Amino acid sequence: MPFTIAIDGPAASGKGTISRALAERFGFHHLDTGLLYRAVGARGGDPIGAARMLDPDDLKRPDLRSNEAGQAASRVAAIPEVRDALVTFQRDFALREPGAVLDGRDIGTVICPEAHLKLYVIASDEVRARRRAAEIGADEAETLAALRERDARDSARATAPLCAAADAITLDTTAMSIGEAVSRAIAEVESRYPKA
Ligand code: C5P
Repeated sequence: MPFTIAIDGPAASGKGTISRALAERFGFHHLDTGLLYRAVGARGGDPIGAARMLDPDDLKRPDLRSNEAGQAASRVAAIPEVRDALVTFQRDFALREPGAVLDGRDIGTVICPEAHLKLYVIASDEVRARRRAAEIGADEAETLAALRERDARDSARATAPLCAAADAITLDTTAMSIGEAVSRAIAEVESRYPKA
């Protein structure tokens, strides 16, 4: 039975960095589920059709990281049929041996409610905006406004809103270095993963 790690949290909280580091450390597969929604948003046209026809090559588009792609993603992510169309791909991915790390907004609550470890990664709005603006080379104030708009939409939507699963461990990375946040996450996996 593969080991499953669910990592959720608001935009730019550090969940992507932590997920990649855990996958590397334990030899697990990693899926950034935000990319699926970004790719659907970037296709334009009918988002439900785009989600049903999503091709792995769509995830390689170079423009998916921008603030605009994030906004488009969060708009299509509020459509229940778009979310439904992406469930099977994510659940199948979670079954890959020897394990998988999936990061997003609803992994611990909807996609993998039986995950062996659930982390809910948060950080202050200002720290998240600073990190994301530096990562994508965008203006910090503009990025802060974009993150807040996206978080509000993601938290308020009726289907699979952004929220911590009841059994998730919250990791506040506001005052942590990347190394500290990753060490904390590794320790949580080690205490649960029999082969660690
Ligand atoms: O994680 P990232 O910021 O790339 O996600 C982009 C958008 O995709 C989020 O703002 C959210 O609306 C949507 N998303 C989602 N569920 C996920 C992952 C992302 O609704 N599991």
